[in-house]
Amino acid sequence: MVAHRIALIPGDGIGQEVTPAAVEVLDAVGRRHGITFDHDEFDWSCARYRELGAMMPEDGLDRLRHHDAILLGAVGHPAVPDHISLWGLLIPIRRSFRQYVNLRPIKVFEGLESPVRRAVAGEVDLVVVRENVEGEYSEIGGRFNRGFAEEMAVQEAVFTRAGITRVADYAFSLARRRRGELTSATKSNGIVHTLPFWDEVVAERAEAYPDVSWRAEHIDALCAKVVLDPARFDVIVGSNLFGDILSDLTAAVAGGIGIAPSANINPEREFPSMFEPVHGSAPDIAGRGIANPLGAIWSAAMLLEHLGHAEAAAEVEQAIAAVLAGTGVRTPDLGGTATTREFTGAVLEFLGS
Ligand code: NAD
Ligand code: IPM
Ligand code: MN
Repeated sequence: MVAHRIALIPGDGIGQEVTPAAVEVLDAVGRRHGITFDHDEFDWSCARYRELGAMMPEDGLDRLRHHDAILLGAVGHPAVPDHISLWGLLIPIRRSFRQYVNLRPIKVFEGLESPVRRAVAGEVDLVVVRENVEGEYSEIGGRFNRGFAEEMAVQEAVFTRAGITRVADYAFSLARRRRGELTSATKSNGIVHTLPFWDEVVAERAEAYPDVSWRAEHIDALCAKVVLDPARFDVIVGSNLFGDILSDLTAAVAGGIGIAPSANINPEREFPSMFEPVHGSAPDIAGRGIANPLGAIWSAAMLLEHLGHAEAAAEVEQAIAAVLAGTGVRTPDLGGTATTREFTGAVLEFLGS
C-alpha cells in the first residue's frame, strides 16, 4: 500500500464541480493499484477573499509545502478583480514552488468532434511545454498618470538565461522520449530584446540533443499552422504568455477547452507540483452541474504519473478514451447532454467502480 498526501484547492465556479470528479477518479483507480490518497481540502478562493480579504491565509504556502501534490480546480469570480485572485493564489504557488514547467498535452480522441477538419483521432498528440514562472508574467511595471490624458501602463517581460535553459532542456528531453520533434514558439522578427535571446539560448541547448529535430516558428504563423495541420506537432515549447495562448488553442483544436489538462511541475521535486485543468472558473456555466470534468480528470492522471504510478495514469486515460469512443456520454460543451456527474460516472464505470 502506498499513501499520498494531496492538497485540494477546488477554488471558484466550476472548479468546485470538476475537482470532486477528479478526486473520485483518483480514489477509484487508487483502489485498483493499492494507492491511498489522504486529501486535505482548502477553501481558498474568491469566496474566501470576499469574506476575509485574502485568497489564502498568510501561511498558506507553508500549509501546502509538505503535500505530495496539489490538485486545483480554478480561481476567478466576476466580483473580484482577476489580478487579486491570480496574484493572491495561483501565481504564488507556481512561483514559490518553482513549478517552472507547465505541461499541457492534448490529443484528438476517437469519437470527439473537432472543429478542425484535419484534426484526426490518433494523429494529433502534442504537448505544449509552457515556461511557467517568468517571461511576460512579471511584476515589474506599473500604471502611471491615472486619470490624466498621459495615463499609461508599462509591463516589463523578464527572460533569464537560467529560466530559458531549464525549460528548453525539459522540452528537448521530453521530445527525445516522444517523436523527437520540437517547435520553439518565438517572435524574434518583431520583439527586439527578449525573444532573440530566447532563440539564442534554445539553439545553444539544441546542440545537446542532436537526435531531436527542432525549429523555431513565429507565434503568429505557428497559431495558423496548429489549426491547419495539428498532426505535424509533437512538443511545442513557449514562453509564459505564448504557452498560455497556445494551450487554449490546442485544446480547442482537440474539441474544446474543457478537455485540456495541465501539470505545473517542479522537476527537482523540492516542492509539490500542482495539477489543474487548463480552463478557468467559467462563471457563465457555474452552478449548473454541466461543466466538463475531463480536463480535471486528465490532470489527475498527470498527478498519478508524476507520483510514479504510470500504469494507473494510463488506465485513467484509457477510461476517458473509452467513454468518448464507446458511449455517447459527453457534456454540452462537446455537443452532448450529460451532466458532470454522468460523465464522471461513465469514467468510473470503466475503472470498475
Ligand atoms: P474559462 O476557461 O473559465 O471559460 C471560457 C469559456 O469556456 C466559457 O464559455 C466557459 O463556459 C467554457 N468552459 C471552460 N471550461 C469548461 C468546462 N470544463 N466545461 C464546459 N465549458 C467550459 O475562461 P475565462 O472566461 O477567460 O475566465 C473566467 C475566470 O476564470 C476568470 O476569472 C479567469 O481569470 C479565471 N481563470 C482561472 C484559471 C485558473 O485558475 N487556472 C484559468 C483560466 C481562467
Ligand atoms: C491558465 C490561466 C492563467 C494563466 C491565468 C488565470 C493567470 O489562463 O492557467 O492558463 O495565464 O496562467
Ligand atoms: Mn490560460
